Amino acid sequence: GGATTVAPLRVLLAGPRGFCAGVDRAIRVVEEALRQYGAPVYVRHEIVHNRTVVETLERQGAVFVEDLTEVPEDARVVFSAHGVPKSVPAEARRRHLLYLDATCPLVSKVHREAERHFAGGGAEARHILMIGHAGHPEVEGTMGQLPPGAMTLVQDADEARSVAPPDPTRLAFITQTTLSVDDTAEIVTILRDRFPHIVGPRHEDICYATTNRQAAVKAIAPDCDLVIVIGSPNSSNSQRLREVAERAGAARAVLLPDASGLDWRWLDGVGTLGLSAGASAPEVLVDALIDRLRGRYALTIEERRVTTEDVVFKLPAPLG
Ligand code: F3S
Repeated sequence: GGATTVAPLRVLLAGPRGFCAGVDRAIRVVEEALRQYGAPVYVRHEIVHNRTVVETLERQGAVFVEDLTEVPEDARVVFSAHGVPKSVPAEARRRHLLYLDATCPLVSKVHREAERHFAGGGAEARHILMIGHAGHPEVEGTMGQLPPGAMTLVQDADEARSVAPPDPTRLAFITQTTLSVDDTAEIVTILRDRFPHIVGPRHEDICYATTNRQAAVKAIAPDCDLVIVIGSPNSSNSQRLREVAERAGAARAVLLPDASGLDWRWLDGVGTLGLSAGASAPEVLVDALIDRLRGRYALTIEERRVTTEDVVFKLPAPLG
């Protein structure tokens, strides 16, 4: 065969991307539990929203279930990084399950905020507006910290305009940790306008990792013909990264669970490709995608890092 011309492709890597400290800790909890106690270790819900992570842990002896009723008596069970309603550890205790809580400490912090606003439900109690997405396990976990009726879910700007809390002078808001920074700022502005007495965190409850990954994608998107975000469709922060890329000026942005799903047609006419990964997506998935691209293109890879991170969380006491 003669010489083939390989088309050039410029790759802009968003930094930071991929694993956050909460995801890293949650995975270490399962690995450490397997090491100390042996298989099987049950895990309630996907430990983090990523198939590759789940399948890797399954091969080591983790068994993933959606409900505690699927966990046999006296077994060990880990609660996922997203957090759980209070009813879950209560049921675990009732059934004599040995549980380990891999809830991200930044989610637990929001749980405690909610409890503070509720103040035991007495005269001091504030009604809480929870900004987040219905059906996400983190929202179920956070809303499940308090009795039914203590919180109202606000999903978007329209709901912020129409929500009718019982007493607007005794009101607070909290948020999911993986929301769009921009959408949430808009929602909070609407709430503060409508309810001047509302109490809330100074910078919402969106975590450092979500904030940094969105900022990094914003920094590359205007220069990209296509942005690929490695992440699972059920990963909230990955979905938000895709939206941020699109809104920040990428011609197109797609979410890709792993390199095998790459559609070569996406790359037609693409000169600059942006790459990021959700907080639950391991870097090996980014590497695998780059390897696949290398098979067809002459790559020039450049990383744009908007900030560096050094957050590390300790393991929960029984394992640490
Ligand atoms: Fe925790 Fe934020 Fe990661 S809340 S699990 S550090 S995305």
